[in-house]
Amino acid sequence: MAKVKTSYVCRDCGNVQPKWMGKCPDCGAWDALERFSEPVGSAASAAPGALSLGPADAAPSARRAVPIAEVKPLDVPRIPTGIAEFDRVLGGGIVPGSVALLGGDPGIGKSTLLLQAAAALAGRGRRVLYATSEESAAQVKLRADRLEGSADAARGSNLLLLAEPNVAVVAEEARRLRPDLLVLDSIQLAYRGDVDAIPGSLQQLRRCCHDLVTLAKTSGTAVAVVGHVTKDGDLAGPKLLEHLVDVVLAFEGDRHHAYRVVRAVKNRFGSTQELGLFEMSGTGLVEVEEASLAPEAAPGADGRPARRCGTVFAPVLAGSRVLLAEIQALTATGFLGAAKRRAGGLDAARLAMLIAVLEKHGGLRLGDQDVYASALGGVRIPEPAADLATALAIAGAFYDRAAGPATAAIGEIALSGEVRSVRQLDQRVQAAVRRGARLLLVPAAQSSAARPAAGPGVEVVPVAGIRDAIEQLG
Ligand code: TYD
Ligand code: MG
Repeated sequence: MAKVKTSYVCRDCGNVQPKWMGKCPDCGAWDALERFSEPVGSAASAAPGALSLGPADAAPSARRAVPIAEVKPLDVPRIPTGIAEFDRVLGGGIVPGSVALLGGDPGIGKSTLLLQAAAALAGRGRRVLYATSEESAAQVKLRADRLEGSADAARGSNLLLLAEPNVAVVAEEARRLRPDLLVLDSIQLAYRGDVDAIPGSLQQLRRCCHDLVTLAKTSGTAVAVVGHVTKDGDLAGPKLLEHLVDVVLAFEGDRHHAYRVVRAVKNRFGSTQELGLFEMSGTGLVEVEEASLAPEAAPGADGRPARRCGTVFAPVLAGSRVLLAEIQALTATGFLGAAKRRAGGLDAARLAMLIAVLEKHGGLRLGDQDVYASALGGVRIPEPAADLATALAIAGAFYDRAAGPATAAIGEIALSGEVRSVRQLDQRVQAAVRRGARLLLVPAAQSSAARPAAGPGVEVVPVAGIRDAIEQLG
């Protein structure tokens, strides 16, 4: 019988320990070590995450260092899916022979997105094998029938369904059919018969993923795998998987909001700055193209746009484009010393810092105020350039004074209360004006650059500090 080596792998950080411990010595997570045993000498028995250094007897020429100028640039071929927002995050399309992992909360739309991408590829004459370990073929068909545009392609012979949790069977079908893309939905329920562990365990995840990587690299088929996330929002079992795959995509968004964002966490073939924006509709995910998260200001009783206290627009960068985010805040009397601070879509630590700056340099007394601030649409905005808009929204809510309905604010706020410059100001100004902003608050140091970008008919107000900005509230 083959000798078996047993080690313990941390579910959180993926590091390997020789014996079980209650607390991972590397990342400090409690009860995260999981038993991991493998036959000694098996292809996958190198320590998880270890680098493969290649065969020792590789041809000497391949192992000799060459000047960087002589290295031929890699020409990465790509297969665009035709879903522009998805292609954008992938860096232009699916790369043959690559493996992508798509993670996200249950019900967020992972299966829908991959089925739409599969159908779109099939509609363009590419062959796709959609293997599902979670649902029956009939369930997938039911979803495909709901999706706009995918019905025709689904009827064609290019989109093949396989309801099978056994990865060996899936890989064999893929080798036989030679599809351009293999989708496995999901890896958590997939298993290998010769691994003595339940599906979803680290051993199964790693071995199944390893098989898929081998399949992709040897056959040139691109593989897309669905993974689940844990309650902390991390991909389950994942650091291990993240090392193995080429692309890690996270599908985010509030299930109760329509907007969905696909973000690249890791991408060996492209930028990780880009976002793909979608909206869940009755007929699948619809691309949100015009860079906007903000609905047009709703008209009030007099037919003019309503003035809303505590609402300010912020143009924020998302990769190569600008999104106009609507930031709202509410303040209400709470208990001194136990006031609540809640951030939705904004960074909580940043919000706490802005509240402190408003207290110290803006003259607001927020000690006994509960403060809620959120970016509408359920999209996360971690950018400091949204500071000024957030601070103004809070001040507006506190004083019951509204910024004009077409006001956008740009600027990072320093601890001293100064409004700092932001990068790519022109792009932000243009995007805000395009979406109807008529009054722009910009960092004083950048106002001369902002005016030409804003064009005629738009008022540009330079603000040097947080107090200048608060004075602009009506
Ligand atoms: P699904 O893609 O199955 O999510 P996941 O694979 O991430 O668990 O579906 C997400 C949700 O979207 C589901 O609750 C039903 C809903 N939905 C729509 O609103 N419209 C649609 O066209 C489809 C297919 C699903
Ligand atoms: Mg699913």
